[in-house]
Amino acid sequence: MTTQTLTFTHQFVPAERPGLPTLLLLHGTGGNEYDLLDLGRMLLPGAALLSPRGKVLEHGMPRFFRRLAEGMFDVEDLRFRTGELADFVPAAASAYDIDAGNVIAVGFSNGANIAASTMLLRPGTLAGAVLFHPMVPLEPEPLPNLNGTPVFIGAGTADPIVPRRNSERLAQLLRESGAAVTLYWQPGGHGLGQSEALAAQEWLGKL
Ligand code: MLT
Repeated sequence: MTTQTLTFTHQFVPAERPGLPTLLLLHGTGGNEYDLLDLGRMLLPGAALLSPRGKVLEHGMPRFFRRLAEGMFDVEDLRFRTGELADFVPAAASAYDIDAGNVIAVGFSNGANIAASTMLLRPGTLAGAVLFHPMVPLEPEPLPNLNGTPVFIGAGTADPIVPRRNSERLAQLLRESGAAVTLYWQPGGHGLGQSEALAAQEWLGKL
């Protein structure tokens, strides 16, 4: 596998310290592969960073899957795009010689939604996930066996896009699937806040 055959435009930053997980960085709507590189460096210094750009364009803004309206997802496209992303992870791991079994997603908003979808539809792809302001992307039946996979959810108490019950429902779904979920609430809206970033940094440091 060479980097030419990888199916997402992406950035890869090699590890500076051996043995750490690779962070799979997944931007929000309108973002790109550069957006979360500094966040990744802050969350787990020295870790390799793999940062793809979402392939779907909404009025020119990259996303990881189509939506029909705010918070209303095109589930068929979501399933297809989740498969593409789940296939990209081991392909990139082989091209860059990183451990495919130790990749932790860090997603914001739309990126957090596809990370959650990847856990629910393609368990085994991710060794863990940091989800900043996710929604419930879909509710598969049966639920997967996530077998203790660690998940951090950062949510805002006044998020106008993600109602409180939505964050709680995602935490519940992941727990019912066997994930070890930490749900962190911070005062504020949909933006990524400093306190949740620091809490996620501490959480990652303890894995
Ligand atoms: C989504 O579409 O994934 C969520 O509504 C959040 C967003 O990207 O605005």
